[in-house]
Amino acid sequence: MALSNHSYSNFTDELRTRLSVVDVVSRRVALQKKGNNWWGCCPFHNEKTPSFSVNEEKGFYHCFGCGEHGDIISFTMKSNNIDFKSAITELANMAGLKMPDYKPRDPAIIAREESYTSISEKAAELFQKKLFEPGGSVALEYIRRRGFSDEMIKKYRLGYAPKNNLIANSFPNVKQENLIATGLCRRGEYGLYDFFRDKLMFPIFNARGQVVAFSGRSLDGSEPKYINTSDTEMFHKRRTIFGLNFARDEIYRANRSIVVEGQIDAIQMQSHGFGETVAPLGTALTEDHIATLCKSNRNIIFCFDGDNAGQKAAGRACKIVLPFLRDNSDIKFAFVTGGKDPDEVLKTSGPDAMRQILDSATPLVDYLWQIANTDFIVSTPGGRTQAEKFLKNELQKITDPALRSEIEKEYDARKFNSWHKWKKTTTDKKINLPQIDAISRNTLIYIINTYPELAERYGDFLSTLNIDFDAPVQLMQMDIGAAEKFIVSVKLQKYLEKLQQQKKDLTARLLSGDNVQNEIADVDAKIIAAGEKMDKLISI
Ligand code: UTP
Ligand code: MN
Repeated sequence: MALSNHSYSNFTDELRTRLSVVDVVSRRVALQKKGNNWWGCCPFHNEKTPSFSVNEEKGFYHCFGCGEHGDIISFTMKSNNIDFKSAITELANMAGLKMPDYKPRDPAIIAREESYTSISEKAAELFQKKLFEPGGSVALEYIRRRGFSDEMIKKYRLGYAPKNNLIANSFPNVKQENLIATGLCRRGEYGLYDFFRDKLMFPIFNARGQVVAFSGRSLDGSEPKYINTSDTEMFHKRRTIFGLNFARDEIYRANRSIVVEGQIDAIQMQSHGFGETVAPLGTALTEDHIATLCKSNRNIIFCFDGDNAGQKAAGRACKIVLPFLRDNSDIKFAFVTGGKDPDEVLKTSGPDAMRQILDSATPLVDYLWQIANTDFIVSTPGGRTQAEKFLKNELQKITDPALRSEIEKEYDARKFNSWHKWKKTTTDKKINLPQIDAISRNTLIYIINTYPELAERYGDFLSTLNIDFDAPVQLMQMDIGAAEKFIVSVKLQKYLEKLQQQKKDLTARLLSGDNVQNEIADVDAKIIAAGEKMDKLISI
């Protein structure tokens, strides 16, 4: 039986939210960004010049040549010549989602969902009521001491879960399995008991602002500090972003989002002028979290704690954000100083200090470079090789080839400037090469500063020349082909000089009676070969 498209509508929305139309189309069509749109040759009619445009924000493609028009689903159907359901399956695979079992609009599921959200909503109310009762005074004092006004407590719907089974006992008319489904209750030997006891409660909202889960903080210093609802039918930790329901408008307005580690950080940031702040649940940020944020825009500042765990989280974020990079993304990493986390910075130093931390955030390209340089020992050839492999592997994740190549070039220049120049200063100068003349020196400095890829390719050789590549240079015109030829000719020249020196030394030994005729013949042959190469190079 063909299922009606309507029955998939929740799931197709989910796919449209998770997948970028540019990513989907790029699998079949090479796209290039021009202005706001991406362009390529239309896969639906024959053409040589691109008239097929893709708009990331709107999630649509349109061909100005043949009029084809649609979204990720119609694209997948038409370009693979498959039906709706197969297209959905393929896209679900791409998004890493499980295909829902269809049972179109199963009333039982709807009923379960309604029961789930109404229990969770009611629970949030009950917890909040408890917070303001005498039994909740420890929790209330605690949260006030942490700088929460009553207004904030109301907005974020904080509460207190008492030690007894508040939830298990508050829903006499609800089926036990429905209570268990929300993660709030568990079944024990003596019946239902509450999962959260003696905790400060933070409701977790879905995008529509419904309570779908809770995070409970311990109040007596016991570990773990936070416990969260385990995944349920309506709550998936790896997808849910804390604070997003409050932050969404501000993320559009500010045209960026800020990601912090903890929910208290997120609430305090939102309450101190950084309304665009959200947090993953727990420190593990996932691709799903980033995909969701990237739907609003691709400008993200990650602002993790200044401790080791924060550094690790930032490193992880850096690696998983790369596939989401576009030429207009602005992704940065801020490191908290002057406090252990954003909450503490706001409390001890104020929003201006926080703003400064955000303003001095490190761009992704620099941060990744930094990781390569700290995770590997780049003062050794082996370490540099590892760092190079690491960078290459990470950059593979960038889908736009033009952007990837631009970043590669940038890194080539950096490799030359900070790795190979370093090598130059520590090279032991056993072979004392003759000085290079002023014009060649000027030319080489110009080439190195103009063509970093040549600097990278010939770095080993260039670093033996003892040239200060930062010296001021007289500008000149030279295309990359001529520049490479120039470097090769200098290299050959140096090689010839070295051979001539060898011949001189050998001749001296011959005169003093050593039997080195064969060596001299070898060197002569090399000199002739090098001379021929040089002639050829100059004549082309
Ligand atoms: P932190 O340990 O940095 O928490 O963990 P925090 O926000 O500074 O906590 P406070 O300020 O002492 O209350 C950051 C986030 O990691 C998750 C929570 O979501 C927390 O907000 N976490 C932490 C857990 O899920 N479980 C834990 O045991 C600890
Ligand atoms: Mn923290």
